[in-house]
Amino acid sequence: MAVREAEQTAFGNPSSIHAAGRHARALLDESRERLSVLWGCRPSEIIFTSGGTEANNLAVFGAARARADRGRHLITSPIEHPSVRQAFEYLAAREGYEVTIVRTDPLGVIDPGDVRRALRSDTTLVSVMAANNEVGTLQPIRDIGELCRDHGVCFHTDAVQWFGKEPVAAIDDFAADLVAGCAHKLGGPRGAGVLYARSPLLLESAAGWWQPGERPPGRHGKPAGHCRPGCRLGALHETPGV
Ligand SMILES: Cc1ncc(COP(=O)(O)O)c(C=O)c1O
Repeated sequence: MAVREAEQTAFGNPSSIHAAGRHARALLDESRERLSVLWGCRPSEIIFTSGGTEANNLAVFGAARARADRGRHLITSPIEHPSVRQAFEYLAAREGYEVTIVRTDPLGVIDPGDVRRALRSDTTLVSVMAANNEVGTLQPIRDIGELCRDHGVCFHTDAVQWFGKEPVAAIDDFAADLVAGCAHKLGGPRGAGVLYARSPLLLESAAGWWQPGERPPGRHGKPAGHCRPGCRLGALHETPGV
């Protein structure tokens, strides 16, 4: 019902000052406000995207590039979704980053101890998914997140397959700086994703540098149905609703 209403009435550009734009902006702000109450975070820490792929791309590219002057060592796992894995591959192949891939145990679980052993003084980003999309393995995300916090390293988790299936009392349950989700995995509309970005946290986007809490240029996101073309490096197996 809310989705249909948004599709029919919120066609304006939320950055514009005309009536249609202001209406779209009001709906968007309300959605952001409601999600922030649910997640126990600030509305400004919520970035709407075109889906999980764009949220993951923004997190990985944005966090790695924004910290490039501090180091170019990144850590991830071998079981990430292509929208994460291919972003790391791109950074390694084209931008001189070194990526350590920590192993999983036979059940597909990452040992936080392996993440700790992989950390270096030039590590700037760790990314481990919360729940696996193929076999459903749940990772010790909070432990990994706290470890990263202790070492001052940015932590991203792809929680696309977690939301709607596992409980989330507050977004900080993940102890992550960046958490990606999308609506269509929990019966929501296609073309609607979200990135929680803890403030203050510097990210770099195609439109420039910005921090959650500031309004990122051109990155309002839109109510369902208005799909922005994300940076679709990965996620080539999209089956709507799956
Ligand atoms: C774990 C995981 N991450 C990211 C994505 C990409 O999400 P989207 O289809 O919204 O781009 C998917 C989609 O299958 C997924 O399962």
